[in-house]
Amino acid sequence: MPSVSDILDTMDYGTAPESNAHAVAWLKDHAAGFGQFINGAFTKPSAKRFDVANPANGQVLASVSQGSAADVDAAVKAARKALGSWSRLSGHERAKHLYAIARIIQKRERFLSVLETMDNGKPIRESRDIDIPLVARHFYHHAGWAELIADEFPGHQPVGVCGQIIPWNFPLLMLAWKIAPALAAGNTVVLKPAEFTPLTALAFAEICREAGLPPGVVNIVTGDGATGAALVDHGQVDKIAFTGSTEVGRLIRKATAGSGKKLSLELGGKSPFIVHEDADLDAAVEGVVDAIWFNQGQVCCAGSRILVQEGIAPRFLAKLRRRMQSLRVGDPLDKSIDMGAIVDPIQLQRITEIVEKGKQEGGTLLQASCELPTAGNWFAPSLFTDVAPSSTVMDVEIFGPVAAVMTFRTPEEAVQIANHTRYGLAATVWSENINLALDTAARVKAGVVWINSTNLFDAAAGFGGYRESGFGREGGREGMYEYLVPSWEAALKPAAPAKVAPLSALPPESVEPSPIDRTAKLYIGGKQARPDSGYSYSVHGGKGKSIGHAGLGNRKDIRNAVEAAAKAGGWSSATAHNRAQVLYYIAENLSARAEEFTARLRQMGSSAKDAKAELEASLARIFWYAAQADKYDGRVHNTKSRHVTLAMNEPWGVMGVVCPDEMPLLGLISLVMPAIAMGSRVVAVPSPHAPLAATDLYQVFDTSDVPGGVVNIVTGERDELARTLAEHDEVAALWYFGPGVKAVEAASAGNLKATWASARSRDWLSRAQGQGSEYLRRAVQVKNIWVPYGE
Ligand code: NAI
Repeated sequence: MPSVSDILDTMDYGTAPESNAHAVAWLKDHAAGFGQFINGAFTKPSAKRFDVANPANGQVLASVSQGSAADVDAAVKAARKALGSWSRLSGHERAKHLYAIARIIQKRERFLSVLETMDNGKPIRESRDIDIPLVARHFYHHAGWAELIADEFPGHQPVGVCGQIIPWNFPLLMLAWKIAPALAAGNTVVLKPAEFTPLTALAFAEICREAGLPPGVVNIVTGDGATGAALVDHGQVDKIAFTGSTEVGRLIRKATAGSGKKLSLELGGKSPFIVHEDADLDAAVEGVVDAIWFNQGQVCCAGSRILVQEGIAPRFLAKLRRRMQSLRVGDPLDKSIDMGAIVDPIQLQRITEIVEKGKQEGGTLLQASCELPTAGNWFAPSLFTDVAPSSTVMDVEIFGPVAAVMTFRTPEEAVQIANHTRYGLAATVWSENINLALDTAARVKAGVVWINSTNLFDAAAGFGGYRESGFGREGGREGMYEYLVPSWEAALKPAAPAKVAPLSALPPESVEPSPIDRTAKLYIGGKQARPDSGYSYSVHGGKGKSIGHAGLGNRKDIRNAVEAAAKAGGWSSATAHNRAQVLYYIAENLSARAEEFTARLRQMGSSAKDAKAELEASLARIFWYAAQADKYDGRVHNTKSRHVTLAMNEPWGVMGVVCPDEMPLLGLISLVMPAIAMGSRVVAVPSPHAPLAATDLYQVFDTSDVPGGVVNIVTGERDELARTLAEHDEVAALWYFGPGVKAVEAASAGNLKATWASARSRDWLSRAQGQGSEYLRRAVQVKNIWVPYGE
């Protein structure tokens, strides 16, 4: 027993254990094992179960059922049965349910925090002060959205039955992120918690019952990846929301391709943590603690790549090493502990293997010299130095308390290194210079950016990634859209298969000699280009007569077009006013050629009346998107005190736009205009059967000051060209309107691009179906920037 003077000499903390009596009693009550929560009641524990262990000491906490396909089916059926009455409740009635859940969570905060810590290994300080309060906040916030749903989301309806699959790093918080918006929007859910950490989800099931939630609105099925896969594959699920590894996200993208299921994916990250030379270094060092040692680094948005400006690197590293040494690692239920246990031996092994690889590649590993407990899964706080941008520890998501540190010379170089990753979930910027901080925030490719802070979350702010970090947002208004669908879109019927002959390639010699048969070329980088194949195809008019030839584009042409679009980055940084001007100019020039275009539409089979209507609608649509170019803005969210969160609408960059057969001119205009109005550059594939209205537009673009590469047009076999676009890593988003949805969605899994693909027939002439906020919303991705603001 140390004396008081010994303690004063060493300044050692004493232990401050949190009582686990309540959680232990609850686990004892369930010692016979947990069943599934289906239709408002627990099933009997199944014969096939798995143990859930405490990561801090390896002790078994509970025995949990392995959900079978039959369990998933029963849960989905219960959710479907409950859907009708739940979705018809008034927003106010649903709000009362969410509010009741929030109240009970608040009352149980201590119990839930302790249970979470025992199940996951995270320090009680974090589960008590961060996870569980944010869970309650999420349900309160979404009780608000339920209340306001008719006012704030008019013309929308719930998606239906949602399958939700969550990871083990923030078990109850991820549950809240999934369930609260789904319920607020009027959906019912089947949620599968991670197999390492199902306990707070099971406690939540009891809370739903206590709150009087109607049976079947929330169903919880425990199990491993196979249970998750059964949920993904179930034919009566309308939406899948997934948080977890990029690898599984990719599998889910492929499995749901062509199923019509709505999908949101929140995946991995390798987020940069940039420290400029004018940063407040002590604050930035504390930032690192929150960035990479919070939750043992098992955080998808962990600041795991620390980029420090050269001049301050030695001073910063010295401070950081000192701080790392002072971290206390140990019993997560001890209130004075900074870092707890790794969730599972499997995860510990993954971390250890990557760290070993990092050492073999020549990285220098610095570790806190703390004494780690002998039982349980532990890894000391660590830093790698002497690494290159391409080394394993700078590239791969470690998902453990290990950051890699690199230096940079200039802010330009910092952005370059920061963006040197497949991911794009989050980024942190430290600088006392507002210009530099905001400039860096604008240029990093990440869905969330924290300025002079890190790992801040709030229910009112969207969260989600760019690139291979997934698509869709959780939280706030943006998150609500993931659980809603415009009613007009939900009512669309599948298009009847087009009765058209396949394109027949004509070799160059068969068309080139003819002086009359002008062959429309491709349009790439602002210039007309011959197709790489040299081939063209015959285009037939309304009466089946040949009316001309179009170029037969191939993969190479698509690649050239994407390259041209990639180079036209100036369009994305042009002012919205400038973009609007160009759109107005396009409308003006199209209007000047109205006769020529209506004649072309008639030649392609339209009646005089229809051709006139299509042209007029096209002109009106261009005007509408020109008007929106400088009005469809982001928002400013009130989130945490001393901060605001700027939700910026950012263009995707390069978009693929594959056009429908109906209304060949209006269809193309309806898709290309919102994309370019919002700042993206497009590679468009017109309807293969009626491409000439699109190719006639080249001259309109040429005379309207559209910079080269902003609109590129490649004619040819639509589905072949669409697949190349779907596979192309430089294409960030793809819209596809045609019959081959499945192939396009499956091919998009490579870089996990956001897709909007539909085989349903829409009335392009209708303003409700062919233009509007749904097009604008899908033409941008939201970057949430947390900015210090106020007292
Ligand atoms: P995981 O992605 O395998 O698991 C996440 C969830 O998906 C769990 O509920 C799991 O049961 C389920 N799942 C697994 N396979 C599935 C399938 N084929 N279909 C449907 N659901 C499936 O993550 P895991 O294996 O636990 O961790 C592996 C790595 O993933 C970590 O080292 C880390 O790098 C990353 N990860 C990232 C997370 C994030 O939030 N971004 C969260 C968890 C892990």
